[in-house]
Amino acid sequence: MPVDVRLDGQVALVTGGGAGIGRAIVGAFAELGATVIVAENNPAHVESLQKEFGGKHLISQTDVTEEAAVAALFARVKKEIGRLDILINNVGHHLSARAPFENTTTSVWDALYRVNLLHVFLMTQAAIPLIRAGGRGGSIVNLSTIEAFRGIPGLSVYSAFKAAITGYTRSMALELGPDNIRVNAIASETTESEQVKALARVPPEQRDHISRWFPIGRFGTPEDSAGAAVYLASNLSRWVTGTTIHVDGGALAAGGFYRTPQNKWTHFPIISDET
Ligand SMILES: NC(=O)c1ccc[n+]([C@@H]2O[C@H](COP(=O)([O-])OP(=O)(O)OC[C@H]3O[C@@H](n4cnc5c(N)ncnc54)[C@H](O)[C@@H]3O)[C@@H](O)[C@H]2O)c1
Repeated sequence: MPVDVRLDGQVALVTGGGAGIGRAIVGAFAELGATVIVAENNPAHVESLQKEFGGKHLISQTDVTEEAAVAALFARVKKEIGRLDILINNVGHHLSARAPFENTTTSVWDALYRVNLLHVFLMTQAAIPLIRAGGRGGSIVNLSTIEAFRGIPGLSVYSAFKAAITGYTRSMALELGPDNIRVNAIASETTESEQVKALARVPPEQRDHISRWFPIGRFGTPEDSAGAAVYLASNLSRWVTGTTIHVDGGALAAGGFYRTPQNKWTHFPIISDET
């Protein structure tokens, strides 16, 4: 059987493709021959995407949390491109809403809902008829997070909506299986991006320790998650649906284990108070 990772002749729509993981997915899909549609709400990102990917690809300034904007985007896709094979629901944000749950407000819950879950519903509902009409199946990939599989203190509402994506992914895999439309998710661990400035948060004198925090000793790169998106979008994963790939350098497998400065494994935190 030939190894078929190419996406020639496929049309892929990536939400939030202007930065971070989304941007890496756009680049990978374009390189593999897909026609890429990007729905991105930041005008500066739209301009830079136009420069790099304009021409064959369709770059749309769209806020995917707005129902009317999603409808307008799909009207344009139908008119200008006429088909869709792959949908990557990549938009998501913690909104820097870290706080004890008892202090969070319903307006914060609403904002987190809009940017993490509502658009997944809007985009998927709009995409299904178009993918189905293509008659050759398709692939939908939702960006979850590793925090949907373990706790994250102070961000319980964010993690609730991300965990909802995982459940939604499973159920949609059942609904769309008969159309050979596969639905999967990616759960990334801390990945350097516009939203997550991972390295900058670690004081320079502590950075030597990063290599011991994850079994594969570094933070994620957007390209790490894009690799999973390529697998899930391509024919390589043609019998894979309803699942979530953890792109986490082994963090979930490690649980609380990490390596000591002496390179031994421990699950006891090393706390030294030298003051
Ligand atoms: N970076 C991480 O550590 C990490 C970890 C786990 C999961 N994730 C998830 O991966 C996905 C991508 O994260 P990232 O860190 O690459 O994000 P990012 O913030 O770096 O990039 C997101 C992109 O989406 C665009 N965008 C935001 N809201 C939009 C909207 N309403 N409509 C259209 N475009 C919009 C932004 O302008 C930006 O270009 C998110 O769902 C996030 O929750 C990220």
